[in-house]
Amino acid sequence: MQTANHGKMTITSIRPVFDRDKPKMYIETYGCQMNVNDSEVVVAIMQKAGYSVTKAIGEANIILINTCSVRDNAEQRVWGRLEFFRQEKKKRPGVTVGVIGCMAERLKDSLLENNIVDIVIGPDAYRELPKLVEKTESGQKGINVLLSRDETYSDISPVRLDKTGVTAFISIMRGCNNVCAFCVVPYTRGGERSRNPETIIRELKELQDNGYKEVTLLGQNVDSYLYNGMAFADLLAMVAESAPEMRVRFSTSHPKDMTDKVLKTMAKYDNICNYIHLPVQSGSTAILQNMNRKYTREEYLQRIDTIREIIPGCAISTDIIAGFCGETQKDHEDTLSLMRKVGYDFAYMFKYSERPNTKAARHFKDDVPEDVKIKRLTEIIDLQSELSLASHQKDVGTVVEVLVEDTSKRSENDLCGRTPQNKMVVFPKENCKIGDLVNVKITDCSQATLKGVKN
Ligand code: SAH
Ligand code: SF4
Ligand code: F3S
Repeated sequence: MQTANHGKMTITSIRPVFDRDKPKMYIETYGCQMNVNDSEVVVAIMQKAGYSVTKAIGEANIILINTCSVRDNAEQRVWGRLEFFRQEKKKRPGVTVGVIGCMAERLKDSLLENNIVDIVIGPDAYRELPKLVEKTESGQKGINVLLSRDETYSDISPVRLDKTGVTAFISIMRGCNNVCAFCVVPYTRGGERSRNPETIIRELKELQDNGYKEVTLLGQNVDSYLYNGMAFADLLAMVAESAPEMRVRFSTSHPKDMTDKVLKTMAKYDNICNYIHLPVQSGSTAILQNMNRKYTREEYLQRIDTIREIIPGCAISTDIIAGFCGETQKDHEDTLSLMRKVGYDFAYMFKYSERPNTKAARHFKDDVPEDVKIKRLTEIIDLQSELSLASHQKDVGTVVEVLVEDTSKRSENDLCGRTPQNKMVVFPKENCKIGDLVNVKITDCSQATLKGVKN
């Protein structure tokens, strides 16, 4: 499982639970890790209400699509899927289709203005899902897009959808109080709230008891976690101590908020992975200011220096947006030079996509022409390919610790897994199995993967 895939599409298929008497639900997930984890919460709620889960859409009574609004193409994909569901409904008129998640929150009842969607539910209203599904049985449509100030689903144990049972997510907070000018998330997920740490540790222990080996703590801005005086660094230490045999990761950190205390906690505990996802978005201070990111290029680079001081060998990845409003060629070059300076191990790179009603949409013109956006994004991607390759080449000849997550997609005889630095490693299976921690000697690499043999 990818540990950082903000906004990228993931389709989560679920192991079928065959039970002829129960109505069956099917769920597809788009968007970030929070959405993946939310789908697991939704499955828990629905199972408790008596539904079983199927991965065969053709036998589902209820089809749910958990959606993302972060960029226009994320929404376009969902519209494409809804057209497909329309065909499914034609074949089997009793089928209920529900749109849940960020797009449900953004588009609200306008999603019901077609003959496809029966239910619309926003990210804070999942507990209402069984009730709304019941309502559709009498031919009514159902909607609940109320955002909440305190919902964290803290009492619900997500039904893990990852088939290998090695890595899992725990949401430690929901929503976001930042107002990055480009971003729709605060509107689709509401204000920030932190989850009771006792319930986080309870979930952690459940994972441990079920044989999980790695946990990723999730929040849009984990550094602003705060519960009755407990800050993120304290929570991180508590998690690391409560499950010393498990690897601990977290995402996402905000450059303006990441404290030295968090870095020192990472350095102190061996089981916290030396990997930080620190989205920069742009290398130009002027653009960062218009984005309302609240740090300058220099401050960001200072954070990077501090990370390198406190955690030598820490891998760093980022998110970058190409072609934000008003971005000049010089601003773009500043992004490229910052990327080189930091030497990112990995990056998620996007073309700016204007989102209705965001600060940027209201105050700025989306004035970088499409062909220029594409050209800049291509340059950014090409540079990151170089940087990723360079980062991997440094590992050739060294021995790394790999947590085996799966069989390699390319060969039955190979296993794949990640290093603490979140680098993907492929190596011959020999007598190793999924869930093992294996020392692997790296012999070769590409920009995407390291290759090696058991040491
Ligand atoms: N909370 C995280 C990111 C959430 S959205 C953070 O603060 O970093 C994930 C990523 O999508 C963002 O980091 C940004 O790079 C990208 N993104 C968000 N809105 C976008 C938009 N309107 N156009 C293009 N990319 C966007
Ligand atoms: Fe969006 Fe900014 Fe919040 Fe991240 S911190 S979710 S980019 S508003
Ligand atoms: Fe995530 Fe997309 Fe919503 S990135 S928070 S699913 S808008």
